[in-house]
Amino acid sequence: MKLVVMKNHEELSKHACELIINKVNSLSSPVLGLATGSTPERLYEMMIDKYNQKVVSFSHVKTFNLDEYVGLSENDTKSYRYYMNHHLFSQVNFTKGQNHIPNGMASHLEQECQRYEQLIADACHIDLQILGLGHNGHIGFNEPGTSFSTRTHVVDLERSTREANARFFESIKEVPTQAITMGIETILQSKQIILLVSGEQKAKALHRLLNGEVSEDFPASVLKRHHDVTIIADEAALQL
Ligand code: GLP
Repeated sequence: MKLVVMKNHEELSKHACELIINKVNSLSSPVLGLATGSTPERLYEMMIDKYNQKVVSFSHVKTFNLDEYVGLSENDTKSYRYYMNHHLFSQVNFTKGQNHIPNGMASHLEQECQRYEQLIADACHIDLQILGLGHNGHIGFNEPGTSFSTRTHVVDLERSTREANARFFESIKEVPTQAITMGIETILQSKQIILLVSGEQKAKALHRLLNGEVSEDFPASVLKRHHDVTIIADEAALQL
């Protein structure tokens, strides 16, 4: 794992944006893996700016998001599909069909997981995957204890994850208890991975990632087994 330390969230976002744009501009049919949460919001704003400045086009790009809540429709403002439409997809030149997110409303969730996994395989896997880091070390929604050999699957969310994400909802009671997430093996099949870590509230998790052992108790630790991972962290995330 390579660690790049940036001064703050703004600089972290700028650096990630440059890496993504270089990737998109250098491949004929790039496949991006995208994340939600607070961390990449500024990155997506910067990608939109670059598109408006005609530095980049997304007409030849496919995207796959890491995860989606079970039971929230794309019109629900708390769903990750809504988040992505709002923060990125509707503001650049993507057309319907380029952007993939698990369908948390599917009547057969297991079939939906298989369908999603197949779509990623059909796209010849992800060229560049953006990840955020959960306080408990989760990546996507792969909670501690998840087997490293998982493919896209349905998860029960930990209480701590629901608490961390309750800020996007009226109350914790409204935070779904389940989600569909790319599995750890699915994520590891990405050709390149960028993990974004920002803010002092992530310092403990980042410290454990950098100094701890590889263990299923701390899902992000598996990234040490991948050949091309860059952690972009800001100074606050390294203050422990
Ligand atoms: C969420 C998402 C992850 C995200 C992570 C960090 O629960 N499922 O995909 O990367 O937690 O989120 P944030 O950037 O808001 O800290």
